[in-house]
Formats: sequence, structure tokens, C-alpha cells
Amino acid sequence: MSLIRIRMRRSISVIYHELYCIACCLLGKAKVRLFFDKERTNRVELGADVKRSGFMLVDLNIKAPYPYDLRAGLPFPDASIDFIYAEHVLEHFDHDQVHLLLGECRRVMKPGATLSVCVPDAGIFLDGYAHPDQFDVGRFCQHPTLDFSVRINYVNYMFYMDGFHRYMFDEENLLRTLESAGFVDVASREFDPDLDQQVRRHESIYATARKRG
Ligand SMILES: C[S@@+](CC[C@H](N)C(=O)[O-])C[C@H]1O[C@@H](n2cnc3c(N)ncnc32)[C@H](O)[C@@H]1O
Repeated sequence: MSLIRIRMRRSISVIYHELYCIACCLLGKAKVRLFFDKERTNRVELGADVKRSGFMLVDLNIKAPYPYDLRAGLPFPDASIDFIYAEHVLEHFDHDQVHLLLGECRRVMKPGATLSVCVPDAGIFLDGYAHPDQFDVGRFCQHPTLDFSVRINYVNYMFYMDGFHRYMFDEENLLRTLESAGFVDVASREFDPDLDQQVRRHESIYATARKRG
């Protein structure tokens, strides 16, 4: 296939994706107008489309209860949310978008509300590169085509995730990022079986932060 054709196909798929994102945002906004009650206890999970009881899900999936492109912020009014949870989501945004999204979380959270996050620990994969003899490749890296006999692919695997990952965290960066977004009482936390998925536990770090009361 010629280069021009490849480029045209790519451009069309980018335009299609952006139109899809706009449609998600319009639908999410409309649903908030119709169904959202600021006075209720509102718990939100970001970047999840599988129903979890007690949470309003916001995701770039038109079928999510509240479809929305999180790059555009959050569809909710100021000071309307009691709790926000995001599991393996922040790493899907670039640095500036992470700050925008966290700023949006703070805007929509009620004073004193908590944000709880879980992200992959990129440090595990860097340690794996530095100390391959101590790295359990099968436990941390699963990919159909990457060759894990080449240790740089531990890093390629997590840092790119086939183009889905855009920004990496270790514990220090996660806490610093939450603090610089204006949250207080920022702290690491343990795995919480009532909240976090067991399947992600071995590769994850967890933190909570509060909006000043
Ligand atoms: C790795 S999945 C995590 C799903 C779920 N939280 C979990 O831990 O199983 C990342 C999620 O982020 C969502 N996501 C990625 N970019 C997004 C965006 N711009 N706006 C809204 N959701 C997005 C994806 O649709 C996907 O559901």
C-alpha cells in the first residue's frame, strides 16, 4: 500500500476517533443534565465501563453510564461528588492531561471528599531491566509479539502498552502529582479488596488524597 494511502487511512481513523469522543462528551453531558442529582451521595469511578455497584462510571465508551472523554474534564457540576476512584487510568493520559484531569476531580469533589487512585508501578519494570536475574518476566510481562528475552522490552511493554500508556508513575511521582494538583492528606495506601482488583495487585501502587474541607 502506498504511503499516501496509509496516511489517509490513519487520518480518517483519527478523525473518526475524535468524532466519537465528541459524541461521548455530548451524551455524557446530556445524561448529567437529565439524571444527575447533586444532593445525593455521589461516588464516581473514572475509566471503567464494567458496572460496579455504588459507583457512577465515566468512560470513553458510549455505553458507559456516563460516557465522557476525560481529556475534556468531567461532566459534573462543582462540589457534587463524594468519592472518586480511578484504577489503571491516569497512565493513559499525558502529563498535562493528568494535571487537567486531577484539577477537574478537585473541582467536582465536595470539600473533604476523597480521591483514591491505583496505577501501575513503572519502577518494577525499570528494576527488571537493571536486575533481570531478579525479575519474574512471566508474572509481569504478557504480550503476543514482544520478545522478552531482550530486557528493554520489559520497559517497552509497560511504558508504551501498544500506544495506550502515555505517562508513568512510581510511588514518589504519584504522591507528588496529587500534591501538585492541590490535594491535601496525600498518602500511599494498601491494596483494598473492597475497591481494588486482585488481578492488578502485583504491579500496582495505591494512593489517596483529599480535597481541602
Ligand atoms: C486499563 S483500562 C482500566 C479499566 C478499569 N479501571 C480496570 O482497572 O479494569 C483503562 C480505561 O480507561 C479508559 N479511558 C482511556 N482513555 C480515556 C479517555 N480519554 N476518556 C475516558 N476514559 C478513557 C478506557 O476506556 C478504559 O476503560
